[in-house]
Amino acid sequence: MKKQRLDKFISNQLILSRSVVRTGIHRGQATVNGTVQRDIAFAVDASNDEISYNGEKIGFKEYVYILMNKPAGVLSAATDKSRKTVVDLVPEHIKRQNLAPVGRLDKDTTGLLLITDDGVFAHNCISPKKAISKSYIATLDGDINDDIITRFKEGVILADGTPCRPATLQRISQNVARIIITEGKYHQIKRMFGTVSLGVNALHREAIGKLYLPESLKSGECIEMTKEELESAILHK
Ligand code: URA
Repeated sequence: MKKQRLDKFISNQLILSRSVVRTGIHRGQATVNGTVQRDIAFAVDASNDEISYNGEKIGFKEYVYILMNKPAGVLSAATDKSRKTVVDLVPEHIKRQNLAPVGRLDKDTTGLLLITDDGVFAHNCISPKKAISKSYIATLDGDINDDIITRFKEGVILADGTPCRPATLQRISQNVARIIITEGKYHQIKRMFGTVSLGVNALHREAIGKLYLPESLKSGECIEMTKEELESAILHK
């Protein structure tokens, strides 16, 4: 694993400011393999060296992977000047610097959202080339008929001329449907229903690939997952 500066490693892992950590290191609060290390730029290999700060060993995870049940009214972003973001909802014990949502759900959309600091994993999940399916439950302001199901199956053309890949639409009741898409254009589902003059009153993501939102996870709650769990459910078909 690549070496990194001691101050950077400690501040990233413990979410402490770099200046606080530097002062702590100068004061002798950090040890590397049992020896006090006062050099803030000392190069550590986090996967081999045992690093402690204030007497506590820092367990090392290269990246974190979080599954959230996103509530309505929260932005899919890492930070915002005034509005609450999904990263604000991540509990402190799993919080890290550089966490960001994997793709975006609209502010009013609820359900399964992944959050990680592993940019390569995030990129693979949202890459159109991977064509990962995303399943949503849409509540509409009108009825769904067979013609709409056929049009979605053939691939609709959005109002601005953008073609969509074929999508699966399953009627659950007159105005509630499961819709499965394999891409993630901006406001895609709302715009797809717009082409058949239907408005979306509520949108909830229930699954990405074979990864389903656990029923026990309440709105706004998160669970930590491993990369292997996510890869086998999402990336390996
Ligand atoms: N499509 C939308 O229109 N909104 C979402 O949040 C996700 C997919």
